[in-house]
Amino acid sequence: MNNRIETVVASIIEGVRNALTKNDVTFDEYRQGIKYLLANAASGELALLIDVFFNTTICNIENRTIGGSTSTLEGPYYLEDAPFVDGQLKLYQHDNGEPLILRGRVTDGDSRPVVGAVIDVWHSTPDGFYGGIHKDIPADCYRGKLTTNTDGRYHVRTTLPVPYQIPHEGPTGALLESMGRHSWRPAHVHYKVRKDGFHPLTTQAYFEGGAYVDSDCCEGVFTDNIKPEVRENGIRVVEYDFNLAPAASQAVKA
Ligand code: DHB
Ligand code: FE
Repeated sequence: MNNRIETVVASIIEGVRNALTKNDVTFDEYRQGIKYLLANAASGELALLIDVFFNTTICNIENRTIGGSTSTLEGPYYLEDAPFVDGQLKLYQHDNGEPLILRGRVTDGDSRPVVGAVIDVWHSTPDGFYGGIHKDIPADCYRGKLTTNTDGRYHVRTTLPVPYQIPHEGPTGALLESMGRHSWRPAHVHYKVRKDGFHPLTTQAYFEGGAYVDSDCCEGVFTDNIKPEVRENGIRVVEYDFNLAPAASQAVKA
């Protein structure tokens, strides 16, 4: 007997029973629901379906319990073995996307710089695909590891990502469409910030005023992640400072 499984699963069952009861779901609808879930699983999209609706819930819980900067979705396209880069992410072929500078500072709970933190950065191409995942874009393009300097600072040049449409031709996209929802995420840059002794931080930057910032299909946009449109010498800059919580810390729940 596992108490945690008993508690969480009993709550899930209660939540589903309440939803069925509240909506007077018929036996036909119940059977349709089962059929849908079987078809979704058979198509290999079960993880996508669950992530679309619940990944952000887990991020919310971690944000309440861990402390440090606001974390949000990792998404399915993080690759562990991205190369260390110095000042420039590798682009693909004739990339004519808008130049973008990512920079900022990593600090600890006492606002001291975190030196030698490793920041994985990854994002879409200027036409909405990920290196090593889609088409024939090499895995070392549009992703890389940065190291913070003696002042905790990092910076790298790349090109602006665009909104990303999650796989939408299968059962998950069909479900979103029947609910009157779209399957788009706003343009975003992913970050994973790590340093021994600190809780790893996984988060994303979004672009203020950009398409879908207010209607992310994965509901992964928090106010802290929305960055204003800043230009320096005509070049877009996203300044993102990260505050790391100590490892294994559990902030007191509000
Ligand atoms: C998905 C893709 C992303 O790039 C992301 O950041 C989050 C989710 C997805 O396909 O589910
Ligand atoms: Fe993404």
